Amino acid sequence: MLPQSSTFLFLASLLAVLPVNADGIYSNKSPVLQVNQKTYGSLIANSNHTSIVEFYAPWCGHCKNLKPAYEKAAQNLNGLAKVAAVNCDEDENKPFCGQMGVQGFPTLKIVTPSKKAGRPHVQDYQGPRTAKGIVDAVVNNIPNHVKKATDKNLDNWLEQNEERPKAILFTEKGTTSSLIRALAIDFLDVIDIAQVRNKESSSVEKFGIEEFPTLVVIPSGDSEYKVYDGELKKQPILDFLSKFAEPNPDATGKAAPANRPKAKPKSKPASKSASDDGDNKTSTETPESKPTPASAPPIPTLATPETLESACLAVKSNTCVLALLPATGDESELPAPATEALSSLAEIAHKHALRGVNLFPVHAIPDINTASENLRSVLGLNDSQTVELIAVNARRGWWRRFSGEEFGLASVESWIDAIRLGEGSKEKLPEGLVAEAEPKTETPKEEAEHDEL
Ligand SMILES: *[C@@H]1O[C@H](CO)[C@@H](O)[C@H](O)[C@H]1NC(C)=O
Ligand SMILES: *[C@@H]1O[C@H](CO)[C@@H](O)[C@H](O)[C@H]1NC(C)=O
Ligand SMILES: *[C@@H]1O[C@H](CO)[C@@H](O)[C@H](O)[C@H]1NC(C)=O
Repeated sequence: MLPQSSTFLFLASLLAVLPVNADGIYSNKSPVLQVNQKTYGSLIANSNHTSIVEFYAPWCGHCKNLKPAYEKAAQNLNGLAKVAAVNCDEDENKPFCGQMGVQGFPTLKIVTPSKKAGRPHVQDYQGPRTAKGIVDAVVNNIPNHVKKATDKNLDNWLEQNEERPKAILFTEKGTTSSLIRALAIDFLDVIDIAQVRNKESSSVEKFGIEEFPTLVVIPSGDSEYKVYDGELKKQPILDFLSKFAEPNPDATGKAAPANRPKAKPKSKPASKSASDDGDNKTSTETPESKPTPASAPPIPTLATPETLESACLAVKSNTCVLALLPATGDESELPAPATEALSSLAEIAHKHALRGVNLFPVHAIPDINTASENLRSVLGLNDSQTVELIAVNARRGWWRRFSGEEFGLASVESWIDAIRLGEGSKEKLPEGLVAEAEPKTETPKEEAEHDEL
């Protein structure tokens, strides 16, 4: 009796801790997008992206068995397509699941946008219930809005829709990757995207392309093209293209928390009038009240050589922006330029966060971090009484210094923007700053990478 009840208590407390959303099988942290009868229209049916939707019931064993593969598929398809689930056991979803023709659980449907907005093509997925099977089927249904251009028609294509920026992917491939197709959907009717093969020699020459794949952007009303030199991954390319034009509302980046249905309050509204009062109060406040710039949280500090190394100076580290703070001596007060630099960086980071745009990590390096002195001396920034702003990319082996006279928001921001766009000159990162790679046993990838160009 006793052992049993203590097991029960243990299980009960374990269950209470697990963050499960409204008794569904996917937690709030799951990469699977939870959809209901109300949000299906805006998130799935009206999307320009392809989706797969699982209709399930929490008590169904096959649904629970599918969960790991389905979550894995959601991870692999992040940024390429939507992976969603509807809990048909919820009262509000029951009629909807019926309308969708669901007769057993789980039912998987691939929803592909058609030419008519809001009237997608819906087909049952009958393939294997594995991550690979699901990913392959969804990827095959991602619409292709990428123009395949040749030497003959590239100029013609560039002249169309004059007002729009254009992006060209130069590639050795004859096929159009799911990544570039997803980007063309994110920027549908906003940025035109073409793909040009390496054998189109006059186009390749015209843009001075030496490596494949290479992505270039021709901003509107500007013949100067820009070459993308960041990582060939969805999110950084999306961020880069967003500098030239705003992507469509349902651009698939990192699973945006705003796309998630709000956590339902567990308790039912106890008394109607009480909740009305509450509503009355909250609704008089402006719902879209923007946080004031003053609320920008300070940028994180890396106080030890180890944290600096793992965040920014490991072999695989991408671009980081560092504020090397001056020695403060006994005083804990930073000199004014350093304070100004920190507040400019904080505000820039905050602005990006509010817009949901990824910015590279921005860190303050206090003088007490012993790596700071080494960094200054190797980079020749030998005046320890001044604040220095630098950008470092350990993976690609470059760094650059902010050389402005003052650290106001506008000048720091234009420096940051130039880094984002890959503009301006970079210095070669001296030897010895970047930590050696730790010998690592790579686990072989058993599945095709779709998140590449
Ligand atoms: C879908 O694409 C059109 C452009 O063809 C765009 O106007 C619309 O906002 C996009 N829809 C969403 C939900 O992003
Ligand atoms: C409800 O809102 C009205 C104005 O719309 C206001 O006059 C009233 O005091 C509010 N009631 C409560 C309880 O907040
Ligand atoms: C710092 O180094 C530069 C060369 O990089 C040199 O010209 C300058 O005099 C040095 N300053 C100090 C304070 O050592």
